[in-house]
Amino acid sequence: MTLELPEAAPLVWAPFGPDRVVEGDNLPLLRALPDGAFRLVYLDPPFNTGREQLRRTTITRHDPIGGTRMGFHGRPYDVVRSSVTRYDDAFTDYWAFLEPRLEEAWRVLAEDGTLYLHLDQREVHYAKVLLDALFGRECFLNEIVWAYDYGARTTRRWPAKHDTILVYVKDPERYLFDATEVDREPYMAPGLVPPEKAALGKLPTDVWWHTIVSPTGREKTGYPTQKPLGVLRRIVAASSAPGDWVLDPFAGSGTTGEAARALGRRFLLVDESPTAIDVMRARLGNGVLIGRGPRDRATPHSAQWPPL
Ligand SMILES: C[S@@+](CC[C@H](N)C(=O)[O-])C[C@H]1O[C@@H](n2cnc3c(N)ncnc32)[C@H](O)[C@@H]1O
Repeated sequence: MTLELPEAAPLVWAPFGPDRVVEGDNLPLLRALPDGAFRLVYLDPPFNTGREQLRRTTITRHDPIGGTRMGFHGRPYDVVRSSVTRYDDAFTDYWAFLEPRLEEAWRVLAEDGTLYLHLDQREVHYAKVLLDALFGRECFLNEIVWAYDYGARTTRRWPAKHDTILVYVKDPERYLFDATEVDREPYMAPGLVPPEKAALGKLPTDVWWHTIVSPTGREKTGYPTQKPLGVLRRIVAASSAPGDWVLDPFAGSGTTGEAARALGRRFLLVDESPTAIDVMRARLGNGVLIGRGPRDRATPHSAQWPPL
């Protein structure tokens, strides 16, 4: 049975009680969360923000995280950002939308927590430079390439068939990474290793071959950007422990919640799309508290979804 909260009472979060699905803009919700509450934050934002909104916005804050972080060559983050975003309006808009959410995601991350940012080839190169400057270059852990093979292939260039997931930790000295919990892969040439090793399989590298959600398979929810459970399971298994809280501010169909539940973690999922909430209600409803988040819409940017 789902536990639906009345509209008038905004659903936020508490460290006890049931898993939660919140409908609304994730920024006011993130701002209402306490520091350091989540072992794992996974973000899979849409790459489409309202350009005209940016034209009205000037970012004036300095040194958003920690007060002392410096970017490349000792330049402050603001300087790194303005040089990276100068040449690409679309990315500038995107980053203006994402930046305040990443700042909050960093704040609510536990001291030994890990943040995964799921991107594609249009934005990852800029985002990597900016995240290095924003979080600190020493906090970069991995660039995971999720490779799939589905759909049409252009013959005019190399068909793009991968996403990139950037992984940052809050503290490079004390983050959690539990390799023993990660599912293993078959060796490419099992005949070249001893039979016991071949039977055990190998630890995945930072390149993950995994099919997309099959359009006809059981996993399919019908939500257009649904990510495979296998990818999220791996992330949750490696970077959180049973009982930990996992946060997904762009939850979509709730894949992170399903992976978290299967592995005994608790979850807080947020999405502003009523369609996504309906999909999550059907997918995860049992025992989950569902409600609307804080209504403060005084945020400068909001993504449009689905893309126009
Ligand atoms: C790429 S999809 C996430 C898909 C998800 N990982 C899954 O497996 O289904 C991005 C989601 O972000 C949501 N979204 C966009 N802007 C948002 C905002 N400001 N607050 C909350 N959700 C937002 C969209 O509604 C969309 O469902």
